[in-house]
Parts: sequence; structure tokens; C-alpha cells
Amino acid sequence: MAKILHVDSSSRSKNSNSRQLSKYFVEKWIETHPADSVIYRDLVQDSLVPLTDTVISAMYTPPEQRTEAMSSDYATLIDKNVQEVIDADIYVFGVPMYNFSVPGAFKSYIDRIVVVGRTFSYGADGLKGLLQNKKAFILRSSGSNFDGPPYASMDFHEPYLRAIFGFIGISDITFVKVDGHSEEEISAAMKKAKEQIDHLTAEQKLVSAGR
Ligand SMILES: Cc1cc2nc3c(=O)[nH]c(=O)nc-3n(C[C@H](O)[C@H](O)[C@H](O)COP(=O)(O)O)c2cc1C
Repeated sequence: MAKILHVDSSSRSKNSNSRQLSKYFVEKWIETHPADSVIYRDLVQDSLVPLTDTVISAMYTPPEQRTEAMSSDYATLIDKNVQEVIDADIYVFGVPMYNFSVPGAFKSYIDRIVVVGRTFSYGADGLKGLLQNKKAFILRSSGSNFDGPPYASMDFHEPYLRAIFGFIGISDITFVKVDGHSEEEISAAMKKAKEQIDHLTAEQKLVSAGR
């Protein structure tokens, strides 16, 4: 029974395309995988504060050598988020494009979950991602389309997310994208994205059944 971690990061609480798609994805997933469980995080509601000086010191200090302040900051800012990521099998991330990259709330989240000794390690054999056999589905919304010229080279969203998640071991990543400026464009793109989700969740059911 897989554990799903569902995370939203749009600053819009209403009319958010990425929130609508991530919700649709999880509902469809549970329809096809009713035994799976879901944990939900809303990064905007959680109002993630920047990492502190002490938590960064704690990241690079073995737990038994941390000061009380380091342990306390580390526990408050890192533990809950990173443990949920370690425990989950499947990630469903709603991530809009803001200024060609990810929203600040999602970047703050990344700063909490890319943690040495927890999600990646380095040693004699170099850097190693510690999250293995996971799948990520990223529901991305944007105004423009970045599939080709003139904007493709300005897409720092998908390449960044593939790089940072790949770094911690998550290489099986599927993007579902919705883009458009007018209501008509968005509604056509949402329809297409939902069809893609229907296909993906049905396909994953066959993969899970064949395990
Ligand atoms: C602060 C901000 C920055 C944005 N930057 C971009 C951008 O660089 N490229 C783009 O195509 N759309 C950009 N947009 C448009 C959003 O990506 C688009 O409205 C998207 O639907 C937002 O996601 P949501 O519907 O889940 O809230 C931006 C929107 C905001 C609010």
C-alpha cells in the first residue's frame, strides 16, 4: 500500500490551476488505488520561514554533537518535512511557474528536504541520492507555453526540479502541464491535462497490479 505525499504551493487559494490538477490527480489515484494513503501539505498555509543560521549548522553537525538550539531549530524546521518525504512512495506536487522558476514557498520546501544524511549523502563514493524507488508527478501551471521557441530556453522550472529531485534520488518524474492566458486556452489545456491524468493513473494501476 503506497503512501502519497500531496503538496501544493500556489499562492492562490481559489482558481489555482495547479491546485485543481493536483487535487484531481490524487482523487483519480485513490479511485484506482483505494488502499493507498495520502498526506497533504499546503506550503502557503504553512508559511515556511527561511532556514536559520543554527539549523544550517545543525545540518552539518552529527546529531550527538548538536547544541540544544541546533537540535530545536532542526527539529522545528526540518524533521517533519523531511521525514514525510522519506516515508512517501509517491509525490504529487502542484507547482506553478513563477518568474520562470518555482514559487518561493516551494524553494523553501526544497531547502528543508534536501538534507545531508537524510535525503543525500556524500562520502568516498561521492554524492548519492538516498530516495530510491519513488515516483513524482508534478502538476505545473504557467501562463505561457515553454515547449519550444521563443520561451523554451527560459524554462528554469522543469530542468531545476528534475535536477534537484534527481540529486536526492528521485529520477522517475512525470510532468503534467497546463498553460494559457485566456479562459478558453486554460479550459482547453485543463481538459487535456485531466485526460493525461486519467491515462497516467489507469496506467499506474496496471503497473501496481503487476508488481
Ligand atoms: C508571481 C507570478 C509570477 C509568474 N511568472 C510566470 C512566468 O515566469 N511565466 C509564465 O508563463 N507564467 C507566469 N505566471 C503565471 C502563472 O504561472 C499562472 O497564472 C499559473 O496558472 C499560476 O498557477 P496557479 O493557477 O496554480 O495559481 C506568474 C504568476 C505569478 C503570480
